[in-house]
Amino acid sequence: MAEAPTRNRKLLAWVEEVVKLCEPAGVHWCDGSENEYRLLCDELTRSGTFTPLDPTARPQCYLARSHPSDVARVEDRTYICSTRQEDAGPTNNWAEPAEMKKTLTSFFQGSMKGRTLYVIPFCMGPFGSPLAKIGVEITDSAYVVVNMRIMTRMGNRVLAELGQDGEFVPCLHSVGAPLEPGAPDVAWPCEPDPSRKYIVHFPEEPSIWSYGSGYGGNALLGKKCLALRIASVIARREGWLAEHMLIMAVTSPQGRTHYLAAAFPSACGKTNLAMMQPSLPGWKVRTLGDDIAWIRLGEDGRLYAMNPETGFFGVAPGTSRVSNPNAMATFCCNSIFTNVALTSNKDVWWEDMGVAPPPVATDWQGNEWTPGSDRKAAHPNARFTAPASQCPVIDPDWENPAGVPLSAILFGGRRPNTIPLVNEAFDWEHGVFLGSSAGSETTTAALGKAGVMRRDPFAMLPFCGYHMGDYLANWLSLPERTDRSKLPKIFFVNWFRKDEQGRWLWPGYSENSRILKWICERVDGKAGHVSTPIGRLPTISSLDLSGLQVKADDIRRLLSVEKEGWQQELDNIGAYYERLGDRLPPRLWQELEKVRQRLTD
Ligand code: GTP
Ligand code: SPV
Ligand code: MN
Repeated sequence: MAEAPTRNRKLLAWVEEVVKLCEPAGVHWCDGSENEYRLLCDELTRSGTFTPLDPTARPQCYLARSHPSDVARVEDRTYICSTRQEDAGPTNNWAEPAEMKKTLTSFFQGSMKGRTLYVIPFCMGPFGSPLAKIGVEITDSAYVVVNMRIMTRMGNRVLAELGQDGEFVPCLHSVGAPLEPGAPDVAWPCEPDPSRKYIVHFPEEPSIWSYGSGYGGNALLGKKCLALRIASVIARREGWLAEHMLIMAVTSPQGRTHYLAAAFPSACGKTNLAMMQPSLPGWKVRTLGDDIAWIRLGEDGRLYAMNPETGFFGVAPGTSRVSNPNAMATFCCNSIFTNVALTSNKDVWWEDMGVAPPPVATDWQGNEWTPGSDRKAAHPNARFTAPASQCPVIDPDWENPAGVPLSAILFGGRRPNTIPLVNEAFDWEHGVFLGSSAGSETTTAALGKAGVMRRDPFAMLPFCGYHMGDYLANWLSLPERTDRSKLPKIFFVNWFRKDEQGRWLWPGYSENSRILKWICERVDGKAGHVSTPIGRLPTISSLDLSGLQVKADDIRRLLSVEKEGWQQELDNIGAYYERLGDRLPPRLWQELEKVRQRLTD
């Protein structure tokens, strides 16, 4: 390996070891340059993985279609392999680390035959940030390399930072499709058998091994694997937080800015909220991040949030000029689309894009598709990969290594009934209770049945790298570490209430600015509220509903406390708490009992 562009001993030894194990046809050290990116896109085009889009309509954009078995995260194949099972906790799959290494080693043996092994040095977080973390992903997928270049800071800059003795998180990835000499390749190589895919974390080393999938969070290992599962473990030890949260700035017509973070489960509205265009005149939203926030206590005692990523891997279906014009502008160019439909003039299309369906298109599986078909043209978890810097409302501080001070934290999820439009916690502990009890209908972001209600504490269920009880205790401990008056206020929102006919009660999207306004005014101690058994709700007059076409009855429903529904909700939360066992902080049981008491008083 004379040509290796690093003298980092640990890295050189690891690459050598992986080359021996995986037997690739060649090794490519990624420099992260634009030229390299273009060459790889050309190569992906030649191999049939990429279809270039119309260069006039969508310059430097490509479409990829995945194998139909490889369309989302695979939660039941995701493991946290801590030494002791109780440290992974009851919400994670676990296997004994040495056993798992043995299994994985047999899978990785010769897994890169006939393919190039790419070495991707990457950094999560701006260089120079107190929280920035370096990882190196080894992959046999050029698709992964080009996506990682959009989503992370990668290449030579990172090797320079790493130096001779710098530490990094080794992230090993293979699509699990070795090529025998002379055998033809396929457009989307992967291991089609779901039971042979593995997304494995060794939090104590730390390291990541991912086998069999080339899609999203399964394969772009800087994202969920490093920046959430591994980072959450490091963060707990070092006294910070790694969260599944968007970060946004909201500015009032008077020019007062508040930074907000919001944790919603996958495909529950983070990207849309992070870059929304407010319907309320004079209000402005700027985006700092759409998926992950790393949060630390600043010297002034406030919480500061930073986005470790540099791109958006966003849900395409439903994205339109009306629902999310800023996303539409972000993926104008230099973007990758996966599993959307292709029009005959080589542009992309998907359901609810806000433009008429093309008379004939190619669907996400490469078949001819015409409007009225009973199949969807785009896969519901089709995604765009786009550079954050192209977002028209990117915040000037989005790469500030210090992060931005948070005024409020929001939790939410898809809840068709009971949960009101917005609810403010009485205090920090009540807020942690609200976050811990977050739940949502499942979505197509993960393989499995969609539309099933499940608890998803802090939207971290699939992403917490340790025991969920310890995780919640970590959040509860913050007032011991800072002046509690400096902590953000906590809110719970729900854009997804439905009536008996399944119609949305709330228009959502840009109209959510009305709720953001109330939240900012609550932070400033201005907006009115009513104290209820479940928290502080807006009075109808304290919400700015000017110009909104929603029936007064619907608004009343959205802001009511439905006693029966809440009693059921509390029973359900209690049953979930039982499952978390004796590591669940007793304080959360007390918060639950307090709500129950207030409801019966
Ligand atoms: P991940 O990238 O999987 O973490 O998802 P996300 O939380 O960023 O979700 P995203 O913003 O991509 O939204 C997912 C889906 O929810 C899309 O189909 C949106 O159209 C829909 N959605 C987002 N905001 C709203 C809203 O306010 N109301 C309604 N009804 N739907 C929404
Ligand atoms: C999610 O599922 O929460 C995502 C998409 O953000 S993925 O990167 O595939 O995890
Ligand atoms: Mn996400």
